[in-house]
Amino acid sequence: MTKRLEGKVAIVNGGGSSGPGWGNGKCTAVQFAREGASVVVVDINRGAAEETAGLITGEGGKALVVEADVTSESDMQAMVAKTLSEFGTLDILAHIVGINGRYTFFDDTEDEWDRVMNVNLKSTFLSARAAVKPMIEQKWGRIITVSSIASLRSLGINQPMTYGISKAAVAKLTKLMAVEFADKGITCNCIAIGMIDSPMVRGMLGEHAEAVSAMRDKGSPTGKQGTGWDTAHLAAFLASEEANYINGLEVPLDAGVTTKAPDIYPDDPAERGQ
Ligand SMILES: NC(=O)c1ccc[n+]([C@@H]2O[C@H](COP(=O)([O-])OP(=O)(O)OC[C@H]3O[C@@H](n4cnc5c(N)ncnc54)[C@H](O)[C@@H]3O)[C@@H](O)[C@H]2O)c1
Repeated sequence: MTKRLEGKVAIVNGGGSSGPGWGNGKCTAVQFAREGASVVVVDINRGAAEETAGLITGEGGKALVVEADVTSESDMQAMVAKTLSEFGTLDILAHIVGINGRYTFFDDTEDEWDRVMNVNLKSTFLSARAAVKPMIEQKWGRIITVSSIASLRSLGINQPMTYGISKAAVAKLTKLMAVEFADKGITCNCIAIGMIDSPMVRGMLGEHAEAVSAMRDKGSPTGKQGTGWDTAHLAAFLASEEANYINGLEVPLDAGVTTKAPDIYPDDPAERGQ
């Protein structure tokens, strides 16, 4: 396979995984390394970042672990400084950290609002602001952020409200950065992740994980949820030279969920008057 990121240095925020299995950031970190990049695996959970880095080095790739809280400006600056001192450059930032909200409109609290906005939105701003400086100097860079299909539309009952708002704002921030940095050789794109079977989702659902996972499969036009590898493959393309002229997009990665109308007609043609 062509190594599309050969010689590049990439930071993957949220490069660990919140449980056993493959999250979006973990897959992206491993995929970037398979495409030839040296990867800085950043996570608040050092053990999770070390596991991903171990997978990369086990396959012959180069990885550096940075334990950092993406909501801290000093951590984000230190992360970039460590990347530059280890690898000498920084070409790609994939910011794949996020937490889900838990509350609907009337149940939400100020603390919950702040928590979700900080981890999802403020972190995107702080990490991009730290990472973009060396990219501007070298006149080349890629910034990839993640929103959610919750940014694009209502997800129905019990949708975590603050989560959707934070993700819509991540997409808006990405578009504004895309315009701001376009003439500096930097592209910024956002992946609106759909239903991905990840450790975070399974952890959130607890004992209901299997049942809800089956419902999520059914809700996809393909009959299956996606995996972290779907995110990783799109991120690797957006990070590559091939995506040179793609800038300022929020790309739904959802097998058509956001395109599909609700199932309102019965399966039997006679019952639907045909
Ligand atoms: N899984 C889905 O169905 C889905 C759907 C839409 C969007 N997303 C988005 O994809 C992203 C990744 O989700 P995932 O399901 O792979 O989750 P995950 O929990 O497996 O991975 C997220 C990683 O981020 C790390 N992290 C959390 N807070 C951090 C902080 N403050 N600083 C540094 N690291 C931190 C966690 O330790 C974890 O390793 C999130 O932004 C999420 O909102 C996921």
